Amino acid sequence: MSHHIIEVQDLKFAYPDKTAALKGISFRIEHGESVAVVGANGAGKSTLLLHLNGYLTPQEGKVRIGDYPLTRKTILEARRTVGMVFQDPDDQLFMATVFDDVAFGPLNLGLPPDEVKDRVYRALATVDISHLSDRPPHRLSAGQKRRVAIASVLTMSPDILVMDEPSAGLDPRARKNLLVLLQGFKHSKIIATHDLDMVMDLCERTIVMHDGLIMADGPTREIFADDALLAESHLEKPLTMQTCPACSPPAGCHPRLRPSQKT
Ligand SMILES: Nc1ncnc2c1ncn2[C@@H]1O[C@H](COP(=O)(O)OP(=O)(O)O)[C@@H](O)[C@H]1O
Ligand SMILES: [Mg+2]
Repeated sequence: MSHHIIEVQDLKFAYPDKTAALKGISFRIEHGESVAVVGANGAGKSTLLLHLNGYLTPQEGKVRIGDYPLTRKTILEARRTVGMVFQDPDDQLFMATVFDDVAFGPLNLGLPPDEVKDRVYRALATVDISHLSDRPPHRLSAGQKRRVAIASVLTMSPDILVMDEPSAGLDPRARKNLLVLLQGFKHSKIIATHDLDMVMDLCERTIVMHDGLIMADGPTREIFADDALLAESHLEKPLTMQTCPACSPPAGCHPRLRPSQKT
């Protein structure tokens, strides 16, 4: 199913102020893969993701979505294939109500109103915000806005999901729901995130970026076990892989540190 493949070849991009954000990035993602993009602030994650649905176009190198190179001619097709959740929900939400924002994409596809309504209600229920349907998006909390942005992408039934820091600002219940939702999405997904524990639960493969370059690309567990790589890329090991300093051998916390044992 080549229409679900993403291929990036020697991608370079500098912003108008000459900041070189991507300095030659290459990778290929096959259908069904779940890939994390991690790296410190400023590593180039968002700039890379913005190339995957044509929001930015390559200055050098190529991006291919499925059978086509991503160009101005193929951009609409690419946007139907790739559902993108932006890092800042304010870049994505612009209608008067949550309902209208989530309905915007499917209406633009020309779907019949009943089908649109059905998709919107399902997407809102999936991210647990049916009660916000009539509210203006710009008055919502950051976490609520992010859930609206996710719903607006789900209504498009994309073949590939690209999400930029989707769990940022979510409360624990919303984060857990997002995790379950993403685990259920069986097509390809690419997730830029600082939530390395979510990566452990969700992504079998991790790409590490630093200063506009890919430092490593491989199985998530191997990447997170590489202390030198994590330090060089300014990353912390996920909590689930950190050993408790009081434990020896590291198999669960020392009984005296367990909350239930405290006096
Ligand atoms: N609009 C912009 N204009 C100029 N420089 C930018 C702009 N957006 C991002 N950058 C710079 O590009 C680099 C990569 O940024 P970004 O892709 O946002 O990184 P990340 O998402 O990993 O934090 C950083 O040096 C950042 O300061
Ligand atoms: Mg970013």
